[in-house]
Amino acid sequence: MNRSILVLASTGMVGRRLAPLLRARDLDVRAASRTPTRDQILFDWRLPHTHDAALDGADAIFLTPPAMEATAAPMVGALLAAAQRAGLRHIVLVSSIAVGFSDEPEDSDRRRIETLVRGSGMGWTIIRPTGFMQNFSEGFLLPGILHAGAVFSATGDGVAPFIDASDIARVAEASLVEPQHSGAVYDVTGPEALSLADMTSIIAEAAQRTIAYHPVSAEALAGSLKEARVPEAYAAMLLRDQLAIGRGEASAITDTVEKVTGGPPNSFRNFAAAAASIWSPR
Ligand SMILES: NC(=O)c1ccc[n+]([C@@H]2O[C@H](COP(=O)([O-])OP(=O)(O)OC[C@H]3O[C@@H](n4cnc5c(N)ncnc54)[C@H](OP(=O)(O)O)[C@@H]3O)[C@@H](O)[C@H]2O)c1
Repeated sequence: MNRSILVLASTGMVGRRLAPLLRARDLDVRAASRTPTRDQILFDWRLPHTHDAALDGADAIFLTPPAMEATAAPMVGALLAAAQRAGLRHIVLVSSIAVGFSDEPEDSDRRRIETLVRGSGMGWTIIRPTGFMQNFSEGFLLPGILHAGAVFSATGDGVAPFIDASDIARVAEASLVEPQHSGAVYDVTGPEALSLADMTSIIAEAAQRTIAYHPVSAEALAGSLKEARVPEAYAAMLLRDQLAIGRGEASAITDTVEKVTGGPPNSFRNFAAAAASIWSPR
């Protein structure tokens, strides 16, 4: 029988790109969603009764911790215990490069989740991506671009080598199918460190429209996250991450994508050219 892989957040920025890569290898993919279509299965972090059915018969999990939860570690711990009972053998975790930032609390949720995965008794690979390029085309920066023609950020002049979610998916694919990645912690980045202002100009040029970059203060960002009702602890984490980028802590470029997948990571310019219609006036 083909190996069976549970892909959590299969509708998310990475999961949606990973599932077809695994299917192309003839693996049995259980693509999880809270609102599953015919090809997907039901999984909700908040509904523990959905977990055992999702794990039953699976060999490995692609684990994206629950979004917008700053206290996800207990949920992840319970799932890992259930996975071990169900006989799973490997976990590929999407963590974040931010676990290494200087002001990341010792006991932050992200660090606790990594510790739980390492101690799970199963094989594991931890992927720590930098910011996703798709934050501009699918994620939290898109509404500002479409509705206000602007990108707002508290990252100042700091630069970071944002990564294409397709490259994270390729690293996850290799980590799920090739045994040599067991026990690895992979910092994954794109090929070029750019500021948010640089990235905004590149998408404006690709979309052939005006998109302004607005630097905002930490206080202003905290205010708008509060207004958007982002849970307090999660908002604090987002703010910490932006300020760390501003201090230059996210500027390092790694060669992980090339080493693990054999191909180079996508550039921000190529990403923007391919996604341009999303930002173009209709
Ligand atoms: N975005 C970045 O720049 C960045 C950078 C570094 C690390 N990361 C990490 O990458 C991961 C994914 O990033 P993201 O959150 O920005 O985007 P995302 O993967 O696009 O997040 C949304 C996904 O989470 C699923 N989801 C949400 N609530 C759920 C619940 N209660 N139960 C089950 N599934 C649920 C959604 O699926 P359904 O709606 O179909 O249920 C959707 O597929 C996160 O762990 C994040 O910390 C992100």
